[in-house]
Amino acid sequence: MRHPMVAGNWKMHGNRAGVAELLEGLRNMPLPRGVEVAVFPPTLFIERAVEALEQGGISVGAQNSAIQSEQGALTGEVAPEQLAEVGCKLVLIGHSERRQILGETEEVLRRKFAAAQASGLMPVLCIGETLEEREAGKTLEVVGRQLDSIVDEFGAAVFADAVIAYEPVWAIGTGLTATPQQAQDVHAAIRAQLAAKDAEVAAGVRLLYGGSVKAANAAELFGMPDIDGGLIGGASLNADEFGAICRAAGN
Ligand code: PGA
Repeated sequence: MRHPMVAGNWKMHGNRAGVAELLEGLRNMPLPRGVEVAVFPPTLFIERAVEALEQGGISVGAQNSAIQSEQGALTGEVAPEQLAEVGCKLVLIGHSERRQILGETEEVLRRKFAAAQASGLMPVLCIGETLEEREAGKTLEVVGRQLDSIVDEFGAAVFADAVIAYEPVWAIGTGLTATPQQAQDVHAAIRAQLAAKDAEVAAGVRLLYGGSVKAANAAELFGMPDIDGGLIGGASLNADEFGAICRAAGN
């Protein structure tokens, strides 16, 4: 039995007043039973989010972490062990904005993935195809390659302590959502690819869908057999909307 997860990726949004308001909204939000809820604030606000939310059962994650787990000479980065020390539990690895805009390579992402796990953070590996790749019929090939980049190096067993988010790049922040069937088809392929290596890990790993999820389309997406929740961008910046999405995962 997989517990659904709903995670809010705030990206580089928020100032002090806005974050305080959002945290207050999240604290007062009725949480559905059996759903793991997490938020990923900008690094600057992680500690504040932990203080505000840890009693209420909402986990806090980071949107990025360094390629080595320990603190050290690496200007501008934040070490997984530093994140763990302030109460951070998860970290996004390989969000498409970091792959595409910041040029993070598979090699960098493998190092970040391993460093996160070495510090006890749970990686949320983000994979997904561009519109051009989908139109060329390459969706499963691209997503499969991104997954294999980790599996070939570390084995499928690392996904016993990780989450995978399928986020078609064309659906992120565009208002275009993959149909439940489109998302389910990719999720089933991801699970099958892992099952070929380790059936037990494949059956247990949570596969989140991300890309323009809103309260209005969440229930339909989360109703698919291989969709175990969502990674929510824009709609996670509003506590009421995010709460409604969390409740959709509980039904
Ligand atoms: P979106 O973003 O929900 O705003 O499309 C999702 C994401 O990038 O994680």
